[in-house]
Amino acid sequence: MGDPIARFRRWVREAARAGAPLPEAMVLATADLRGRPSARSVLLKEANEAGFVFYTNALSRKGREMAANPWVALVLYWDVTGRQVRVEGKLRELSAQAADAYWAERPLGSRLAAAASEQSRPIADRRNLLARYRQLERSYPSGNVPRPEHWSGFCVVPSTIEFWTRAEPRLHKRELFSRSRGGWKVTILQP
Ligand SMILES: Cc1cc2nc3c(=O)[nH]c(=O)nc-3n(C[C@H](O)[C@H](O)[C@H](O)COP(=O)(O)O)c2cc1C
Repeated sequence: MGDPIARFRRWVREAARAGAPLPEAMVLATADLRGRPSARSVLLKEANEAGFVFYTNALSRKGREMAANPWVALVLYWDVTGRQVRVEGKLRELSAQAADAYWAERPLGSRLAAAASEQSRPIADRRNLLARYRQLERSYPSGNVPRPEHWSGFCVVPSTIEFWTRAEPRLHKRELFSRSRGGWKVTILQP
């Protein structure tokens, strides 16, 4: 029936090749304990057998929602290839070592910005944020900015993955992969 992770990775590569500007951009939906949803874009860092990995600030709005309710959904859409992928699953936080390894790979500007920003919190003046950035820049002239403990990686362990393909005349194709006994069951859905 095919491996949905392998297919997903192929779809990202094909979107990149077809010229999608940010093929790894995905919408992450979370919900708070009362079931109120919120959504925002994040960047997919990796998709592997374990799931779909992204990085963020665990103290942000999404971080707080993810801590309260680990069930999330992802959506990726590539207009250039006429394809959409939807993922639903449960989060697992990555180890500190995995977060350190990716932190070390990131450009200095991204590390300074992530360390300076209390993501999702209000700030009276954007200049204060820039001042914090500059201050960190001075404090770590070697560029060795430490990873804030709350900047972390999360893996969405999928329970379902749906592949949608644009097809004419409007009879789009939908294949839903659901986890079953260690493997995947495929169901065809009407468009
Ligand atoms: C294309 C794109 C990619 C983004 N990637 C990330 C990301 O990987 N991690 C992240 O924390 N925020 C990312 N952001 C910012 C988020 O969309 C969002 O503004 C931020 O994480 C705060 O969301 P929250 O207040 O719901 O926690 C990205 C924004 C865009 C437009």
